[in-house]
Amino acid sequence: MDIAVIADPAARAAHAADLVEELLTGRAEPVLGVATGASPLELYAELERRRERMPRGLGAFALDEYVGIDPRDPRSYAGVVRDHVTVPLGLDPRRVHVPDGRAADLAAACRAYEEAIAASGGVDVQIVGIGTNGHIGFNEPGSSFDSRTRVVELAASTREANARYFDEPSEVPTHAVTQGIATILSARRIVLLAAGAAKAEAVAAALEGPVDPACPASALQRHPEVHLVLDPDAASQLRGVAASSVRG
Ligand code: PGA
Repeated sequence: MDIAVIADPAARAAHAADLVEELLTGRAEPVLGVATGASPLELYAELERRRERMPRGLGAFALDEYVGIDPRDPRSYAGVVRDHVTVPLGLDPRRVHVPDGRAADLAAACRAYEEAIAASGGVDVQIVGIGTNGHIGFNEPGSSFDSRTRVVELAASTREANARYFDEPSEVPTHAVTQGIATILSARRIVLLAAGAAKAEAVAAALEGPVDPACPASALQRHPEVHLVLDPDAASQLRGVAASSVRG
């Protein structure tokens, strides 16, 4: 794994944007895997500044969506992707996909999502955050490494962490549709972004702990091309970080 520890948020976003751009450039219809949450927002702003260099046929697949939320609701992940990715980067909305959390047949919608990813040729660069409990997407601890897109129940800690986006904690949906761990690992390159001391334990468990479903992000150790872009706080519990990975 390639680990970059960068203190300056703008430099961190620029490094992550380089990692994204490198793999998209030169491909006719590349595919970006997009995370929501706070971690990737500076990267998306940096990609917007590079908008002219984004390939015209760029498509995107979101990691997850709440069950039961209206895609027009700004708290839906469809809304976040629209506001931070599709519109600012000038993507064709027909090429941007978010799981349908309101499908009458959610299982069928999950299968269709997997098929759409495969039909696109697969994700070139997947951007992911990490939960304080080690989740990636909404794959909570205990998720099978073979998992594909499916409906999951959110962990209490995840609902608490996401309550900041809702008026009342009880409004946070209890379930979500998420790409599975195997889905995420099928991307050609994965860029994991984490900042803040609250993520330090999960980052250390993911990188240096056992590869075990108790820490879903530890599955990333099995992927051939993962890049971590961290701030010093998120990297603070890593024992094996070489000084050379500290870039600012
Ligand atoms: P965050 O969430 O980017 O808002 O910290 C990441 C996650 O929970 O996966």
